[in-house]
Amino acid sequence: TTSPASLLTIFGATGDLAQRMLLPSLYGLQGDGLLPASMRILGTARSTLDDDAFRTLVADAIARFVPAEQRNDATLQALLARVHYQPASLDDDASVAALAERIRGLRSGDIVYHLSTSPKFYEQACAALARHGLAGPGTRVMLEKPIGHDLAEAIAINDGVTRSFDEDRVYRVDHYLGKEGVQNLLALRFGNALFEPLWNARHIEQVQITVAETVGVEGRGDYYDHSGAIRDMLQNHLLQLVCLTAMEPPSQFEPTAVRNEKIKVLRSLRPIGRAEVAMETVAGQYTAGAIGGKAVPGYLDELGRASRTETFVAMRAHIDNWRWSGVPFYLRTGKRMPNRCTEIYLQFREVPHSIFARGGAASQPNALIIKLQPEERIELQLMHKTPGLDRSGLRLSQVSLDLDLDERFAHERRRLAYERLYLDAIEGNGTLFVRRDETEAAWQWVDAILDGWNHAGSAPKTYAAGTWGPNAAVAMTERHGHSWRE
Ligand code: BG6
Repeated sequence: TTSPASLLTIFGATGDLAQRMLLPSLYGLQGDGLLPASMRILGTARSTLDDDAFRTLVADAIARFVPAEQRNDATLQALLARVHYQPASLDDDASVAALAERIRGLRSGDIVYHLSTSPKFYEQACAALARHGLAGPGTRVMLEKPIGHDLAEAIAINDGVTRSFDEDRVYRVDHYLGKEGVQNLLALRFGNALFEPLWNARHIEQVQITVAETVGVEGRGDYYDHSGAIRDMLQNHLLQLVCLTAMEPPSQFEPTAVRNEKIKVLRSLRPIGRAEVAMETVAGQYTAGAIGGKAVPGYLDELGRASRTETFVAMRAHIDNWRWSGVPFYLRTGKRMPNRCTEIYLQFREVPHSIFARGGAASQPNALIIKLQPEERIELQLMHKTPGLDRSGLRLSQVSLDLDLDERFAHERRRLAYERLYLDAIEGNGTLFVRRDETEAAWQWVDAILDGWNHAGSAPKTYAAGTWGPNAAVAMTERHGHSWRE
């Protein structure tokens, strides 16, 4: 049985993610009164800080990363009052024993561990907790991405972690699942009767999922260069969006039901391998260019060495099942795109017969656009009659039913993804976390593409920073009579 956590232990508590996202999220939960009253928060890392020094670090992070209008001293003090710190280094047994002692002293029930460290420490950290009797029932472990560099590494990490924690107590983070807009995709699909009858190959012509960023890789070039766009974004965030867009209705919003549907999608992805990569995928790397009128350097200049790592990937995927047979899913993600934009675009089929064709008034297909970032917005593109008179008959033009969710919910504070994820992990709800089989199925699909690229031996195609990727990405959709939505 699961009860709300009495202790949250964050490994890597002094790191960048902790300061930017994790601590501000805990602050948000504290402010909303959502942390269990007696829950303690224990930070651990190698730095030899004491409780007070760590509280100063927490207060600094809140001051830097929580907008001023959301801050108040009462919330900060209430948060700091539950915060503790214990230095530990995994290869120093005495320090691990001291950490275990501290954990035992602070817990009064369930424990959530959050491993916000390099994945190479996951197995060791979990084993250490198990050795000290701190990995049994009533404990849960959250893991950050990347779960490995390929399928083999993912399996090794998953094996390593599940030797100490049963799978149903392993919470793999994909922070996209914590985003409001991503959960809203589920609400839209399964809270409305309107869309589901149309949500299939009979009515949908094509789907496009775009995750575009304007940032480059400044500062984290070493990690990124080892990874690339397909491992960093597509294997996890983009494929999760594919799952939520394409999955069958789960019977309940509950971990097993939801994840059983997602894994079916991943297993239905048509493999793209050596024979297909040239036609179905495009890898790109940005060169110098400009974004929003500001000159930015190329990837190789930022990195300071030669590299074939892709900073952009586009592909034409297929989900081979009854619902989606024949519908292309165009996926793309890249750094240094013209603007930040995460969206799902579903284009419906054309009307079967146009009664307005005579005057040359072409009808455009309907489309549903679900924008997740930077703003949340749902747009339904419809045809309507252009007002006025026209000798040749009726003229049509496209208009949108446009729902601006940020404006509609302007009084609501926008939550950070980790607020949802922490709340769920604290409560012991794994619905918005990734199950082992999902990670591994996603890696299996991505590995085949990487193998195809390797085998072809070709370098990524270049694109100027501030453009939508190499021309080949455009050619890939145009070959099939489709265009990327700009
Ligand atoms: C991370 C990637 O997982 O997601 C980063 O490692 C990327 O490269 C980030 O920038 C994007 O997240 P968000 O929430 O800004 O869309």
